[in-house]
Amino acid sequence: MQTSVNQGESGRLLAADLAIDAATRDLVDRDAAVFLHQALSTPVANAVVRAEGCRIHDAAGRSYLDLHGNGVHTIGYHHPAVVAAIEGALRDGLAFAPRRFTNLPAVRLAEKLVSVAPAGLSRVLFCPGGSEAVEMAVMLAKLHTGRWQTLAYQGTFHGAGFQAVAVGADPHFRDGLGPLLPGALHLELPDPYRNPWGWTDRERIDEEYLRQLRVTLEQQPAVAALVSEPVFYNSTVPTRGFWERVRELCTRHGVLLVFDEIYTAFGRTGAMFAAEHFVTPDILVVGKGFGGGVLPFAGIVAREPLNSVGHKSIGHYTHEKNPLCCAVATAVIETVEREGLVARARELGAHFLAGLRDLQAEFECVGNVTGLGLNLAVDLVTNRDSRRRDGDTAAALLAHCMQRGISFKLVQGNVLNLKPPLVVSRGELDEVVAALREGLRALRAGPPRGRPTVSGA
Ligand SMILES: Cc1ncc(COP(=O)(O)O)c(C=O)c1O
Repeated sequence: MQTSVNQGESGRLLAADLAIDAATRDLVDRDAAVFLHQALSTPVANAVVRAEGCRIHDAAGRSYLDLHGNGVHTIGYHHPAVVAAIEGALRDGLAFAPRRFTNLPAVRLAEKLVSVAPAGLSRVLFCPGGSEAVEMAVMLAKLHTGRWQTLAYQGTFHGAGFQAVAVGADPHFRDGLGPLLPGALHLELPDPYRNPWGWTDRERIDEEYLRQLRVTLEQQPAVAALVSEPVFYNSTVPTRGFWERVRELCTRHGVLLVFDEIYTAFGRTGAMFAAEHFVTPDILVVGKGFGGGVLPFAGIVAREPLNSVGHKSIGHYTHEKNPLCCAVATAVIETVEREGLVARARELGAHFLAGLRDLQAEFECVGNVTGLGLNLAVDLVTNRDSRRRDGDTAAALLAHCMQRGISFKLVQGNVLNLKPPLVVSRGELDEVVAALREGLRALRAGPPRGRPTVSGA
């Protein structure tokens, strides 16, 4: 479940382990004293003084190659094209547009997004964040179909708002809030590596997960939408055949397919949108990197017939056409195109994957290596047969890498989630593989003394 993921992921390198300087320690303490504490976010380990390209820098002059970035660093931090877009909007005095007025940057972005989106997706709405974008998609699906239920996979996260939390299925975010949105149904997350039946035949595994979907759709005629990431959060890559069958089932039952591409859009998987590897959804949701690693911004792009709720206001957001955000998002898409980042993700992803597979060949604890493009994951196990999750090794390895200036996230407690900016170099990816190899060798030579210094990311 994503809960263990996030709790495993949430831990952080203790400030003491990073030997932060006195001024940074003071800042970390002030942070702890003033922010409401929340799991996954407090306490912090260090402070960023600069984020540029693929790296974040601290006050002590250390830098971290960032394979985490909360997923916003698709084109790297502080990209000159993003800086120029912001400077241009401020210089032109076009940084906000109230409702009732359109503006050139908003229309340009809408047209640009449609031009790169999978064919058939032609209508957009923008909003401040990914959670809201998922909620717009769900509202659109409900209003368009006249139905009220949603389907999503267990353990998934589709945002922090009430509706997004309900649609997703991570108990960490849901529990304790009382009744959430009624009609949010959940299916077992397809997991070929740890499927509960112990099967290895991918077709047979897919067939069983599809059977569960088919039975649910037959029994639940009020489902408006199936919401899912096309590549799951633990980097499990469904087969094309799986998504084709899901697509067919959705169409047959009048259910809209919503792809949450908040993480995967704009090149990460080696295609502009992960959907291109599989099928075209009815609604595609973008966010995170869309804001250039600077601004919160997100949106949806939907099929033409879904332009059917003009009597409602599903995207009634203050910043729904913010020209500054739109200028930045256009710069992001243009940068991905101009710098050939889609092909780069594909090529460097294959190189990185090969390096990680070498680790799998060398170390018994590397149970599974999976992913697509620069969206990879390494699943650590205590034993390859039992596939028992090895959270301690994952935590120790994260600590090792953090001390060597490499930051990444853990999911499900034991899965190294490796998502570098698409502008990363081949040499930097080799550095990551070398640091993991060094850490794994050290761990194999002797168990870490005492508790690992990291309980997550
Ligand atoms: C897959 C997915 N969907 C939705 C969201 C929510 O996006 P935001 O944090 O911008 O609201 C996230 C954020 O982590 C996400 O990973």
